[in-house]
Amino acid sequence: MTLTVEPITLSPQRIPLIPNYPPFRQWRKEALQEKLQEQPMCIYVHIPFCTQRCAFCYYKTVDLKERPEVEGYVADLCQEIKMAADRFQLGNRPIHAVYFGGGTPTLLLEHHFVQIVESLRENFKFFDDRKQFSVEAEPLTVSKSKMEVLAQLGVNRLSMGVQSFNNKIIKLSGRGHDEKQAYRAIDIAQKAGQGKWAINIDLLSGLAGETQETWKDSLECAINTGVESITVYKMEAFANTGVYKTGVREEIIQLPAEEEELQFMQYAMERFEQTNYIPWSFFTYTKNGSDKSEYIANIWRGMDFYGLGVSAFGCLGDVLIQNTSDLEKYAPTIESGELPLSRGYCYNSLERMIRDVLLGMKLLTLDLKAFQKKHGFKLESICSTPLKQLKSQDFISVSDTEIKLTSKGILYGDYVGKTLADYLKEMR
Ligand SMILES: C[S@@+](CC[C@H](N)C(=O)[O-])C[C@H]1O[C@@H](n2cnc3c(N)ncnc32)[C@H](O)[C@@H]1O
Ligand code: SF4
Repeated sequence: MTLTVEPITLSPQRIPLIPNYPPFRQWRKEALQEKLQEQPMCIYVHIPFCTQRCAFCYYKTVDLKERPEVEGYVADLCQEIKMAADRFQLGNRPIHAVYFGGGTPTLLLEHHFVQIVESLRENFKFFDDRKQFSVEAEPLTVSKSKMEVLAQLGVNRLSMGVQSFNNKIIKLSGRGHDEKQAYRAIDIAQKAGQGKWAINIDLLSGLAGETQETWKDSLECAINTGVESITVYKMEAFANTGVYKTGVREEIIQLPAEEEELQFMQYAMERFEQTNYIPWSFFTYTKNGSDKSEYIANIWRGMDFYGLGVSAFGCLGDVLIQNTSDLEKYAPTIESGELPLSRGYCYNSLERMIRDVLLGMKLLTLDLKAFQKKHGFKLESICSTPLKQLKSQDFISVSDTEIKLTSKGILYGDYVGKTLADYLKEMR
């Protein structure tokens, strides 16, 4: 039997089989080198305990008065460090920055810090190469001996929550210290860490009871301490805070209006400019532009990081990973030999891109060349419409190499990042 086939008119023309993408001729030796090198990462260590519950605080913290087992927590944390380093093969990766956050890490005793740092040294090969080691502090938990131990352990950035230098406002916010104790803690930290660390202090704009005068005074007090860095957060009245209950829902205490809070921020920006505190994110201003947080800057630029401790989260490659937020579950899980992981999220490529824009813009400039190298797209082409609009509204300037926030863009915080992110989301 003969096979009869109808003649085919070839339209479109057939193309040769594509064996791979991109074609081998585009492959480079340098790319191989990059992959074979261990990628740098950051480490976050969470200490959930506090000596108080501040009215504005939205973090999930455990009041020390509830007698949590701090000693046991530190032992479990050390166990988790070993298990996580093994499980995710983190031991050989260069550690770019280490950050102890909370809660209140300085509530730990000297021997706890020694124990945790020893465990990090044992399990992370390049711990001594890290560029920055930051610890968050709270005034009442700062002592000379603790500060000296931290400096000896290699801490080179101390970030202290002060919030306000006005006694009435500090009291209204439910904090245990007063203005004098804040000064004392800063002084102790400055003396103990002289030449060894940079100090950041946090202020909150928009606290209950704040007026133009009290805000100006607090700012002057902060600047006069001579600390290397000052962070001003806008106080957000999240639903899980005391401030939300008494200030937003029941209106028992009066919070400054949005416009007034914006004026506080604007005034802070002007004072910082006059005193040579330069912004590197839209919250943080550092003396002469040095001493930024390497940890925060790098994780916002997309570097991998691993979070240790209850509720801590991290990101390895395209996967976000979070530990359980339940202290009651944290200990038994670790003690049974398991990592206390509770949930994660796997980015797709669009989400990764959106994340890089949203978090990258917090650092005031977004490197367009780096973005294109990483994602393959020219952000300035895909987002030309919102970029034009943001530029005409004076939120940004755009060059061939970067998008840069103007003073107005800095003042409005996440506005630019969110506008661009919302536009990218429409591509779904
Ligand atoms: C985890 S605390 C670390 C310092 C330490 N626990 C203390 O309070 O002194 C980090 C900072 O988060 C900021 N923060 C807390 N609640 C906030 C809120 N509702 N809105 C904005 N920032 C907040 C505070 O400025 C605080 O200093
Ligand atoms: S602001 Fe600091 S001390 Fe106050 S509850 Fe939050 S983490 Fe604890």
